[in-house]
Amino acid sequence: MCGIVGYIGKRDVAPLLLEGLQRLEYRGYDSAGIVIAGKSGGLKAVKAKGRVRELEARVPKRFAGTTGIAHTRWATHGAPSDENAHPHLDTEGKVAVVHNGIVDNASELRAKLEADGVVFASETDSEVITHLIARSQAVSLEEKVREALKIVEGTYGIAVMHADFPDRIVAARNGSPVVLGIGEKEMFVASDVAALISHTRQVVTLDDGEMATLKADDFRTYTTSGTRTTATPETVEWEAASYDMGGHDTYMHKEICEQPEAVDRVLRGRIDDKFSTVHLGGLNLDAREARGIRRVKILGCGTSYHAGMIGASLIEGLARIPADSEPASEFRYRNPVVDPDTLYIAVSQSGETYDVLAAVQELKRKGARVLGVVNVVGSAIARETDGGVYVHAGPEVCVVSTKCFTNTVVAFALLALHLGRIRDLSVADGKRIIEGLRALPEQIQEILTQEEDIKKLAADYAEAKSMMFIGRVRGYPVALEASLKLKEISYIHAEAYPASELKHGPLALIEPAMPTVAIVPDDSLLEKNRAAMEEIKARSGRILAVAHREQEKADHTILVPKNEDELDPILMGIPLQLLAYHTALALGRDIDKPRNLAKSVTVE
Ligand code: G6P
Repeated sequence: MCGIVGYIGKRDVAPLLLEGLQRLEYRGYDSAGIVIAGKSGGLKAVKAKGRVRELEARVPKRFAGTTGIAHTRWATHGAPSDENAHPHLDTEGKVAVVHNGIVDNASELRAKLEADGVVFASETDSEVITHLIARSQAVSLEEKVREALKIVEGTYGIAVMHADFPDRIVAARNGSPVVLGIGEKEMFVASDVAALISHTRQVVTLDDGEMATLKADDFRTYTTSGTRTTATPETVEWEAASYDMGGHDTYMHKEICEQPEAVDRVLRGRIDDKFSTVHLGGLNLDAREARGIRRVKILGCGTSYHAGMIGASLIEGLARIPADSEPASEFRYRNPVVDPDTLYIAVSQSGETYDVLAAVQELKRKGARVLGVVNVVGSAIARETDGGVYVHAGPEVCVVSTKCFTNTVVAFALLALHLGRIRDLSVADGKRIIEGLRALPEQIQEILTQEEDIKKLAADYAEAKSMMFIGRVRGYPVALEASLKLKEISYIHAEAYPASELKHGPLALIEPAMPTVAIVPDDSLLEKNRAAMEEIKARSGRILAVAHREQEKADHTILVPKNEDELDPILMGIPLQLLAYHTALALGRDIDKPRNLAKSVTVE
């Protein structure tokens, strides 16, 4: 949610920042801007509504400088426009700020500043930070920023430049990610390593309440109260190429196709055949503690919430611990009873989602034990939790999640197996699940080979104005996720219901123009699912089944290979990612950057 990137060094800064912004566009893409320290002193800024390419077109040929900061926006306060795009400069054009996050007391601060004669150039909350810094009487830039942040309430990741201090960029973090990239006589600052990885893999991640000063050949970190902190650069695990499209037309397509290797990665080094269990090095939960768990509560948002639903059913099924998944955003506002015998699990691809992070903080404040199932190593949620399982999906760039969803569910299967084998799951069942897990990469590959057939189906279903997705028990979260994916990228309205609930209301919607996608695994509920399809057929509804064998009630069936019943949901979701993808493609949608959405939602 909003991407920031900054550079100080010897190179021509504008192309570097524009390249960084392109890599951060998944975080927000309604407007963008750049400011640099001009060769003859003073700051020069360019902003544009729209994508980074719009900004690029506006940057003049002669825009030379070696220090600058830039931003790509996802609007919260004020519509997308040139004026509301960051960086925000003060009236004299001496201070420039790029901001990711939300200033909660912005209206109050704005009113005070306006009463003092400050004229605002935008409707954003972020602009108050600029004016506060500009009006500070402190001597150093660091002190000016510190003074401003003392009265700012809310979340921020910021980078600041000042014409009177051309040798530095000051950054600060509270709730929104900030990483520093450490190069040879050059430094970067960004909200994600994606923006700097093609230049350096040495990074320092700021903590909440931490600030940094970057000079071309030096950096230092300190708290917002001025105490020095130690920051040892770490090497990023991924290569720059992992952030490229790798010959695919979209990141989504690349990420769907990467799933066999991604699943292989989440399994690697974790399976213990001797005891038919798994080792999860970062869990920090010993066997005695694991035996004491009486409930599991999983918290996530969007796709991660759906992955958590499948996770809950895996934990309940294999470890026989009552488990459920709840949107983190709801949980944190309903004053939940926090029980000492409940294990809380926060799920997040990015590890940044504000609602999930806030739920974790609330739980920890109440003394709960919270684990994380997270993709981005070292992210805020990964650091805030007491331990957890990394899902090792690799960088996911498309706004909608595919490989990360799949890997998260596999990570839950590992956790469920681990807990199960400490409790009542037999060696034979442990072995059965391990064999099922090992079969997944090949089975996913087999599904991917059906892409051309699924594409044809998508062309057919793309005409629908609205679609229904149904599934039962394990199939229901698959239906929910498939319907979310379809609406996110194709903008076709979609509903997901438990198949059992159909006759209690949604059946009224069924008619030839409202096709249904039915999740029909070959398990103990097969007959029940067939009965639901009967009900739909009787109302002249069209049906696309995802099943282990041809379904005669359906107009079309997509066949998926059978795994263990518990692991079937992982495979049944894959063809529906392709269905959503090709439907969106047939409708000419901007698949990697769907309207109104952003990948990392770092605000409430
Ligand atoms: C946003 C994205 C979704 C994602 C959700 C949770 O809404 O658009 O695709 O599922 O955030 O993200 P997380 O990083 O916490 O999994």
